[in-house]
Amino acid sequence: MTKIVVSRQIPKDYIRQLEQLGEVVMWEESYEPMPRKHFLQELKEATACFITLSERIDQEVFEAAPHLQVIANMAVGYDNIDLDLARQYGVTITNTPDVLTETTAELGLTLLLTVARRVVEAERYVQNGEWQSWGPYLLAGKDLHGSTVGIFGMGAIGKAFARRLQGFNTTVLYHNRSRHDEAEAELNEQYVDFDTLLTESDFVVCTAPLTDATRDQFDATAFSKMKNEAVFINIGRGAIVDEDALVKALKDGEIGGCGLDVLRQEPIDMNHPILELPQAVVLPHIGSASEQTRNDMIQLCVDNIRGVLNEGQAVTEVKA
Ligand code: GLV
Repeated sequence: MTKIVVSRQIPKDYIRQLEQLGEVVMWEESYEPMPRKHFLQELKEATACFITLSERIDQEVFEAAPHLQVIANMAVGYDNIDLDLARQYGVTITNTPDVLTETTAELGLTLLLTVARRVVEAERYVQNGEWQSWGPYLLAGKDLHGSTVGIFGMGAIGKAFARRLQGFNTTVLYHNRSRHDEAEAELNEQYVDFDTLLTESDFVVCTAPLTDATRDQFDATAFSKMKNEAVFINIGRGAIVDEDALVKALKDGEIGGCGLDVLRQEPIDMNHPILELPQAVVLPHIGSASEQTRNDMIQLCVDNIRGVLNEGQAVTEVKA
């Protein structure tokens, strides 16, 4: 018997598609993942499971799920999954690339402009009844046009971000583990080493995935090399950033502001010191959160599960 475990509430249309494949057990909450104990219990008989980036897939999970063939992760990133173990246990891992690229790049640009133009501070200013008159430098921010933007990570999202900058009259630098000659030609961007990215950019935008190589990449040394006015944006993964170092850099004026859509700990602890800094904007990991894109991500997970169960072949398998 085929059993499919779905760790979040997803719309009925998708559940109906999964029901064509087998019995479906869905956790009825959308904003809370299935509790770990419950998840492990349900996996005992499971052939497939649909998860989100909140679920940690480790030895305990693989041991609990002897019949598991596929884990469909509703995210492009898969740092929540131990891929070596997946290979050992013969479980196919899939993710949701491409369908979320443009939406995530749009959020990145939104966040950059929000920090640059102090939109959140300005909105609070109005809401708090502080708006008494116009002032020559009232809530004056930074221009994106004419600036240098340094993109760390030139995968699909980095490229989509760079494409969006074309209309802003910016100089675009990038750093990536490998060079992309085509992107350089198409997007008029220049490859630089990491230090040059830091020292030359007015905006430093991290779009990279979390890997052993990128973990803690943005540390105290990195922030100390950035311009004092620079804005740091992270739409990659929280653990790429040493958040203590980031808070210190913001407080000491080593950098000018930041926008984070991803954090080391999600949801954020409300005592996190970054929440007290007006020059920091924190979003609850909504990079791919348009309705259409979330639908597309869920559909791709369903297609991946169907592909593995029916044809032994996923649509978008993560290859370690
Ligand atoms: C979101 O962060 C994703 O990896 O899809």
